[in-house]
Amino acid sequence: MEVLIAATAEEAAKFAAEAVLDGLRSRTEGNTVLGVATGSTPLGLYGELAKAVAGGEVDFGDTLAFALDEYVGLEGTHEQSYRQTLVRELCGVIGIREENLFTPNGFGDSEEQIRAQSAAYDAAIAAAGVDVQILGIGANGHIGFNEPGSSLRSRTRIKRLSSKTREDNARFFDGLDAVPTHSVTQGLGTILEARRVVMVATGSHKAAAVATALEGPLSSACPGSVLQLHPDAVVVLDEAAAAGLK
Ligand code: F6R
Repeated sequence: MEVLIAATAEEAAKFAAEAVLDGLRSRTEGNTVLGVATGSTPLGLYGELAKAVAGGEVDFGDTLAFALDEYVGLEGTHEQSYRQTLVRELCGVIGIREENLFTPNGFGDSEEQIRAQSAAYDAAIAAAGVDVQILGIGANGHIGFNEPGSSLRSRTRIKRLSSKTREDNARFFDGLDAVPTHSVTQGLGTILEARRVVMVATGSHKAAAVATALEGPLSSACPGSVLQLHPDAVVVLDEAAAAGLK
């Protein structure tokens, strides 16, 4: 695992963008494939990638993007769905075409249907082969929506959101009651199959989760610790998020 500690969140975004672009260069044939995250953390990174596009360094016109997760019960057209969030915050910023953005489908008539959609999504990711998976980390150590207790070999599936995660995300909804209770998330086993993972964490509220993930035991109690198993994991931190490291 490579751990880069930047002085500021802005510098961390630059380091992370370099790690992403470097990972994409290893693709020798076919479309480049990016795994993408929502949330506040990757916005600076997406901004840096946009600068690389503007400078002619990269073109995401043929890149396929697979999202980490989606809420159960929200259609992909819902404003707060992760699909629409990524259309606004990723496609519109770095030029990934909307038809090349793939997101889990957490909307259906039955749990069985959503399970089948989740399995099909997992298979589509495996078929495409993710070159670089971008990750954030939750204050409780989750990656994707793999909450503490998630199996380290899990595949894309329905997961109940922890109360901490629902509270953290209530800012995007009309109060806590409006936040969905479940998500469809890529599993930890699915995430580990990306050729490179680039995790970004900034701010002191992430310091404990970062320290446990990087220096604690490999454990489902801290899903982020699964990155210890990845042969090409790049972790980019600002000083505040790195403060708990020994
Ligand atoms: C987002 C995701 C989550 C976030 C995490 C951190 O698709 O899967 O794991 O990366 O909750 O969120 P922020 O960046 O908002 O602190």
